[in-house]
Amino acid sequence: MNLLAIVGSPRKGKTTDTLVDKAIESFKSKLPESNVKKINLIDHNIQYCRNCLACRDRETTEAISKCVIEDDMVQISRDVLESDYLIVGTPVHMGFATGILTTFLERICWTFAKPEGKALTLKACPIPRSEKKTKSVYPGF
Ligand SMILES: Cc1cc2nc3c(=O)[nH]c(=O)nc-3n(C[C@H](O)[C@H](O)[C@H](O)COP(=O)(O)O)c2cc1C
Repeated sequence: MNLLAIVGSPRKGKTTDTLVDKAIESFKSKLPESNVKKINLIDHNIQYCRNCLACRDRETTEAISKCVIEDDMVQISRDVLESDYLIVGTPVHMGFATGILTTFLERICWTFAKPEGKALTLKACPIPRSEKKTKSVYPGF
């Protein structure tokens, strides 16, 4: 089993980072054989989504549609795909997740999902590209 822990705080060793470490510890106590990878997004080159929609509209049978930007999201996306469990930590900034985390989420939005169906008049209800559709956030849940 693969656990991927993602930290969206700009500060390493502070609140969010520490809480994510605690969550990893707790996870390891329940599933000691699992592989753990922790990513502090702040350490990575993750550019903003440009809304070119190439990843959304590209015809592909791959689980991850290719983004036009070749940065650290190539590897991080593979890590997300290979994970069975995800821990995602973020501080609250301006009442929401940090820009660091939302930048990451925007970059996996359409690479991991494809549009299908319509909501009202808008095309693009997202469905997963991967067959491995569910990931738990914690063992037993
Ligand atoms: C730009 C900015 C905006 C923030 N906005 C909020 C907020 O809306 N609500 C809140 O409770 N705390 C807010 N905070 C405080 C952080 O959530 C708090 O310091 C948190 O512990 C930081 O986590 P970290 O130690 O992992 O960096 C904000 C901090 C910053 C730097």
